[in-house]
Amino acid sequence: MVKKKEIEKTLEEEIVVEPITTEKIFEGPIIPGIKSKMAISDLPGVGEKIAEKIKEAGFFDMMSIAAASPKELSNAAEIGDATAVKIINAAREELDIGYETADKVMERRKKVLRITTGSKNLDALLGGGVETGATTEFHGGFGSSKTQIAHQLAVNVQLPPEKGGLGGRALFIDTEATFRPERIVQMAKAAGLDPEVALSNVVVGRAYNSDHQFILAEKAGDLIRNHNVKLVIVDSVTAQFRTDFVGRGTLAERQQKLNRHLHTLQRLADVYNVVIYMTNQVMSRPDVMFGDPTAPIGGHIMGHFSTYRIYVRRSKGGIRIAKLIDSPNLPEGEAVFLITGDGLSDPPEKKK
Ligand SMILES: Nc1ncnc2c1ncn2[C@@H]1O[C@H](COP(=O)(O)OP(=O)(O)OP(=O)(O)O)[C@@H](O)[C@H]1O
Ligand SMILES: [Mg+2]
Repeated sequence: MVKKKEIEKTLEEEIVVEPITTEKIFEGPIIPGIKSKMAISDLPGVGEKIAEKIKEAGFFDMMSIAAASPKELSNAAEIGDATAVKIINAAREELDIGYETADKVMERRKKVLRITTGSKNLDALLGGGVETGATTEFHGGFGSSKTQIAHQLAVNVQLPPEKGGLGGRALFIDTEATFRPERIVQMAKAAGLDPEVALSNVVVGRAYNSDHQFILAEKAGDLIRNHNVKLVIVDSVTAQFRTDFVGRGTLAERQQKLNRHLHTLQRLADVYNVVIYMTNQVMSRPDVMFGDPTAPIGGHIMGHFSTYRIYVRRSKGGIRIAKLIDSPNLPEGEAVFLITGDGLSDPPEKKK
């Protein structure tokens, strides 16, 4: 039995992981022009010293600099706003960012891949599974299965493409101390994977507060690049923000911080074409008299940053019901799935 402590490595430590032996299916980031060979220190106004500061702040490549706001960059690198603008513009020029015709967008959409959830019903609801290059938010009450799905995806991402995986690793940002290696072992066995190998392919970062969570996400780019990570899990994305910012007066600050965090996650999805799976709690809404009196935490900011939003609730037996409530390209709908010791599956068909 592998001890939990051995697996719970923080991202600060050197992570030694054996490469897994499925063929490489990503050609690299999907944003046009991203394959820039230019070093950050080559940008005008950036020497080795400033380049180091910029990288320390989580801007590891041209794209992240190009997408930064002048304020973000000037604060991070302790440089003037005007210099920051100059650096950002140079990074944008280097990447040749601009408009393109829809056929090119269509071409790139073909690089979008999916991880199976293990349930055919739920996969169908999501258009074939959870999508790379996008953020997927599952929200729901206690025990609705958000964390179970997180574990299942951490296993399924490791499967070869013909079995619905991406032959990659998972990065698990655990904010509620509910990551369970035992569940990975159970689900890996059921999926026909070697449990020891499966455990070594899940990199866990335990976030103790919202700042810690923030930094873990900012550091994720490095791991994604160097360790074949195809899935980033944040379970839960809002809980720490909720406990760290209590009271009405702190709401604006909380939303601002959450906004930046979600922006970081969105950027990881865009730049590295990985799956971002995040979970969110719901709160009760006393103002709702009819229908479901719950709403996801995080308000419109959460809604804005989730490409796919799914509400999941508990039914009888191991049954769960998922409802797709927001998607740029899929119809709204519901799916019924099952949670068992083996993980996610579909309920047996009813006899007629
Ligand atoms: N080994 C198992 N076998 C069968 N069902 C399990 C197993 N482990 C967990 N479950 C089911 O999953 C439920 C817990 O779900 P999960 O932890 O994913 O909820 P959650 O949506 O993350 O809730 P929270 O908001 O509290 O984090 C349990 O109540 C149980 O029904
Ligand atoms: Mg949970």
